[in-house]
Amino acid sequence: MTTFTLNGRSVSVHSPPDSPLLWVIRDELGLTGTKFGCGIGFCGACTVHVSGRATRSCITPVASVAQAEVKTIEGLDPGGKHPLQIAWVELQVPQCGYCQPGQIMQAATLLKDYPDPDDAMINAVMAGNLCRCMTYLRIRKAIKLAAARMQERGAHG
Ligand code: FES
Ligand code: FES
Repeated sequence: MTTFTLNGRSVSVHSPPDSPLLWVIRDELGLTGTKFGCGIGFCGACTVHVSGRATRSCITPVASVAQAEVKTIEGLDPGGKHPLQIAWVELQVPQCGYCQPGQIMQAATLLKDYPDPDDAMINAVMAGNLCRCMTYLRIRKAIKLAAARMQERGAHG
């Protein structure tokens, strides 16, 4: 059994220790916002946060997150109102939508590290998150919009 924190609540799972975290989250815990794309760490569809860092859950054995804090797209904001989620909706970023939870989770750690990212920074950090629908330009715009609002919010307390 592996115990960890998922979206703020302690969970204990019975999957074998080498099970990919992705399948534990989706199949054993029933949170299907995190997607399966390539299964080999190349596409970013399965991105979650482990101890605050963007992590490819398809190549992360569940045993390695024992006692850690895991966050999925469902837990990014209790009301689904993270500035990135608001910007994503406002700018109608998704097309088919499949890659977008991973994109948002990756972008959330980008903004933690770089609150005011330029194009080059966004491209560098988001490069491992692929989108078959080519929504990259809108993703970049939405990240900048969210960054501006988060900075404004910070400036006004
Ligand atoms: S499904 Fe994990 S990186 Fe592609
Ligand atoms: S929106 Fe379709 S894969 Fe990204």
